[in-house]
Amino acid sequence: MDLFEYQARDIFEKHGVPVLGGVVATTPEEARAGAEKLGGGTVVVKAQVKTGGRGKAGGVKLAHSPDEAAQKAEEILGMDIKGHTVHRVMVAAGAKIAEEFYFSVLLDRSNRNYLAMCSVEGGVEIEQLAVERPEALAKVAVDPIVGIDEAKAAEIVDAAGFADELKAPVADAILKLWTVFTAEDATLVEVNPLVRTEDGAIIALDGKVTLDENASEVRHPDHEALEDKESTDPLEAKAKANGLNYVKLDGEVGIIGNGAGLVMSTLDVVAYAGEEHGGVKPANFLDIGGGANAQVMANGLDVILHDPQVKSVFVNVFGGITACDEVAKGIVGALEILGDEATKPLVVRLDGNNVALGRQILADAAHPLVTLADTMDGGADTAAAKAAAAA
Ligand SMILES: Nc1ncnc2c1ncn2[C@@H]1O[C@H](COP(=O)(O)OP(=O)(O)OP(=O)(O)O)[C@@H](O)[C@H]1O
Ligand SMILES: [Mg+2]
Repeated sequence: MDLFEYQARDIFEKHGVPVLGGVVATTPEEARAGAEKLGGGTVVVKAQVKTGGRGKAGGVKLAHSPDEAAQKAEEILGMDIKGHTVHRVMVAAGAKIAEEFYFSVLLDRSNRNYLAMCSVEGGVEIEQLAVERPEALAKVAVDPIVGIDEAKAAEIVDAAGFADELKAPVADAILKLWTVFTAEDATLVEVNPLVRTEDGAIIALDGKVTLDENASEVRHPDHEALEDKESTDPLEAKAKANGLNYVKLDGEVGIIGNGAGLVMSTLDVVAYAGEEHGGVKPANFLDIGGGANAQVMANGLDVILHDPQVKSVFVNVFGGITACDEVAKGIVGALEILGDEATKPLVVRLDGNNVALGRQILADAAHPLVTLADTMDGGADTAAAKAAAAA
């Protein structure tokens, strides 16, 4: 889960990372009140969207008075930044910046490690810097067992080439950011810019934090409050409420399978088959897991059939502990539960435990929307063809 900057700011503050005051506003009036609350001086009005490059897009503006803050908020609210509409701004105390640095720590999946990156040349051009002069961005591997201790923080500031007098305060900020990373179970903590102000303070002026959702439910019940419910995909929200593992994709063939591995390979097979049928693609990932009973199947179908992009559905189930006859009863039951709401063709491929009985149950039910497939490839092809025909 990616956080908004203002949420990252609050989490930084909680763990002692130096930040400036910030107030969230959804209207120009709230922005004015926020600027007054921050002392009435210079503030920065910042678009709160979960994408980079806000500054360059005109989403970060300086204001010298509460009136001007309201005016800048008016300009920024409703703005579209890379497809994200700005619904709120953060009014942040203005810093007198002397220098801008960059720091991040993230989960480095390919190396099964953590990676810290740091540069004395931070700011809005960091992406360009990383491409054009990668040597100016220090990369330091972080052993997950040891983490960032004082020695590692010293190694990072040395590698980035900080001036001697800045090494201690920057290392201290890095240690606190590492606390944020571990204590909150983050997979990314990025500060750009980390600044030195004219009066010598080191402050995190921007924050990007990604939390590991797998840790949320058990280890961090408080993280649920950070979810951005209003912009969650409604189908994904519905699936989540029903305990389904669902990810919306942008194709036309709805997919239901049991077991993440089988569902992943079903996506591949459908994408491949789709090339022969006008380029139709899988519409989603949906793993109904082991207990594919009628209600679970109905919940899954309910989500997929309400995706307006879906033109056909491919149910690909391998009977194991839940045998194929149970799955077949599940599908028949689900179609009964859904009634008139089931309107799109369903291609069903069953294999494994009790397959003959399962196929018999579906054949006997003879539902007009259901087509039986013998193989996974054949089922994918039929489902893709039906999606292409309906598109
Ligand atoms: N509180 C502040 N006071 C003074 N200047 C600021 C403040 N916040 C940001 N700035 C200036 O605005 C620039 C852009 O701000 P920020 O880093 O938050 O946005 P961004 O990097 O463009 O957005 P993103 O991080 O989404 O790419 C900073 O590099 C800094 O120079
Ligand atoms: Mg930034």
